Amino acid sequence: MPRVTYIAQDGKETTLDIAEGTTVMQAAVYSGVDGIVAECGGSCMCATCHVYVREDQLAQTPAMQADEDAMLEGTASPRPDWPRSSSRRRPGSTVADA
Ligand code: FES
Repeated sequence: MPRVTYIAQDGKETTLDIAEGTTVMQAAVYSGVDGIVAECGGSCMCATCHVYVREDQLAQTPAMQADEDAMLEGTASPRPDWPRSSSRRRPGSTVADA
């Protein structure tokens, strides 16, 4: 079962074992992880599931899709090369910063 560690802006870490087929966002919402709001329920419309995937884990995530890229372009947060929408991440063994 994949394991994901969410690191909030205040440094609080929450580690979850996530069932196959569950997105990083869904697991966070179901478990009440602070910082993952997911207002649109994963429809790629809100960016309130925005996370930063640790750079050394990017190879384990699928390529960014055009709609995800466009949505993240509108966020107020800094945009390095590795921001991702957690509603599109089905983890292998990744780490996400909320
Ligand atoms: S929950 Fe809205 S874009 Fe992910």
